[in-house]
This record gives sequence, C-alpha cells and structure tokens, in this order.
Amino acid sequence: MKNRTLKTSCLIVMIMILLSGLSGCKRKDPNVKVIGISAPSNDIQRWAVETVQMKERLQEKGYEVIVQYASSDISMQISQIENLIAKDADVLIVIPVEAASLGEAMDMAIEHKIPVISYDMLITNTDAVSYYTTFDNYKVGSIQGQYVKERLDLDRAGRTYNIEFTAGDPGDNNAGFFYNGAVDVLKPYLDSGVLRIQSGQDSFGKCATPSWNTEKAQQRAENILASYYNDQDVDIWLASNDTTALGVSSALAISYKGKYPIITGQDCTLINVRNILDGKQAMSVFKDPAMLIDATVKMVDEIISGQPVTVNDTKTYFNGIKIVPSYLCEPIYVDKDNCIEILTSCGFYTIDQLK
Ligand code: BGC
Repeated sequence: MKNRTLKTSCLIVMIMILLSGLSGCKRKDPNVKVIGISAPSNDIQRWAVETVQMKERLQEKGYEVIVQYASSDISMQISQIENLIAKDADVLIVIPVEAASLGEAMDMAIEHKIPVISYDMLITNTDAVSYYTTFDNYKVGSIQGQYVKERLDLDRAGRTYNIEFTAGDPGDNNAGFFYNGAVDVLKPYLDSGVLRIQSGQDSFGKCATPSWNTEKAQQRAENILASYYNDQDVDIWLASNDTTALGVSSALAISYKGKYPIITGQDCTLINVRNILDGKQAMSVFKDPAMLIDATVKMVDEIISGQPVTVNDTKTYFNGIKIVPSYLCEPIYVDKDNCIEILTSCGFYTIDQLK
C-alpha cells in the first residue's frame, strides 16, 4: 500500500515536471497576445523614445511586448525579427535599418502568417508588409520648402538667393519624399533663377547623406563651402532632417564667414531645438510621436480583434511589390516663435530641457 502511494506520487511529480517543461517553450499565457517591435537602434532619439512609449501603451492594453534594437546592423535586425517570430509574435511592428534588406525575415513572417506594420519607414521589396504608419513624408518636405518661400517672400524677391540641399539616406524610402516635397515648392524659383544652386548639386542622388549621418553631411557641406562660398553668401541650406542640419551648422561654424543661412530640419531633436532658439537653425518639422503611436496601437488592436483597419492613404506608398495601405499623420512646422509652446504643451519637452 505504502509502495503504491509512493509510485503514484512519483508519477504526479513527473507529470508536473513534464508540464512545466512544456509550458516553458510557450508564451506565459496563451490568451495574451504578443507584439514584437524591431527598431534600428536606441542611439537615435526618435527610436529610443518612441519604442519605449509604444511598449507602455501596448502593455496598458494587455499585450506582452518584446522590443529589440539592432545596433543599425541589417543582419542583426533580420535575426532579431526571426527571433520575434520564433517567440510567437502575433503582430510585428518594424522600423527597418534599411528599407530593402529585410527579405529573409519578411519571408518568414509570411510563412507564419504574421501581420507586419512598417513603422515610420516603409519596408520595400516584399509582400509581407500589411500596413504602414507614418507621417505625410511629402508634406514634411513641402513644409520646409514653403517655409523658405515665405521667409524670403520669393514671389517678390527681386534678387537671387543661393541655396544648397542636403537630402537623406538613399536606403530610406522616406528620403526621396522629403526631397521631392521641398523641391516641388521651390522648383518655380529654381527655374526662374530666383534660387541658384552654386554647387550644381541639384538631384537627390547628388545631395543624399548615407545613413543620415551628421559627419557625412558636415563633410559634404564643408566641401561645398570651400569650393563655392568663399566670396559669396549661401542664403538657404535645405537640410531634410535634424541630423543632417547639425552637420551643416557644424560645417558653417568651422569655415564660413558670410551671412548666416536659413537652415531647415525635421524631428525637433533636442540639440536642434536649442540651435533654433540660438538662431543657428531656422526651423524644424515636428512629428508628434503621440500621433504615430496612437495610430499604430489602434492598428494593432484592429488587427488582433479582426476589425477593419483604419488607413487614410491607399495610393502613395508602393513598396516595389504592392501599394501598402497607410495611415499618414500630420507634420507641423516649428520655428523660434512657436517651438516652446508647441513642444512643451504636448509634453514632448519640458521647459527646463529647452532653457
Ligand atoms: C524619419 C525621420 C528621420 C530620419 C533619420 C526618417 O525615415 O522619418 O524622422 O529624421 O529617418 O532617422
């Protein structure tokens, strides 16, 4: 009798060990949906802040959230996405290191039927992207062009202004939209000669900045300044974003003696906002992360609950394979006069940070 009780207890213990072993391979609670977020790196202010906020928002809604940063390394991002898929993610939110290089990981997402939301930057050359949440990227460029047009009243200029362009990363699908948005506003003035590009670097390819890298933007600006602006002013430097605007302002600080130009930017990165307040950059474009995060979290909810997914653009974003249904948020322009009000009222920065 004693022997039988012992055998039964041993059996129960073995079953318990077996069950706990099995549950270790699965998610903690099968009813909790898992959202995987793959970001290029947390060295860039935007991705560091936005991924953390998005994680919190999704957790509040009861999701399990796994965030991975790829140190700006494409192969690392591919294996991290594969890892998220292996961990049974129900939806993937991906900010690609490089638009066209996630093929293998995206094939795996298709195999496992996992919906992929491309966040801010579009993943190209794959069928796997289900949706895209971003800002109206063309409008970001238009806002920069419009700012220059209005500041210098180009319709009534009566003189020529010198302008140079610094565009973004050729591997980022957004970069061409920014550049074209700005050039389309300024083209009539480039055509009529009111604006002149002394360097002759007048195409996206010639003005691009690999990886949006500040030092590369600085190097190119230094070369242009040394070759064309020793005895004349550069009046406008249309930089597509803040990291490149920083390269331009550093180049000007080193070698330029002329009248300080209007420099544009995008992102309202802290150091650039300080430059705006100090008169070293004229404007930036604010892309309120709360808007993009709201749109993305809503999309996740809709996908998970099988509701129709809210998009507001089904024409613009062809990724080389298909037009990706997109939700575009509104960018807003920020300069010295409105930056403190706009950036502190929504909690993006505190007053102390901008002092
Ligand atoms: C983003 C910009 C950012 C740039 C560099 C773009 O895709 O839309 O906000 O400035 O990447 O990180």
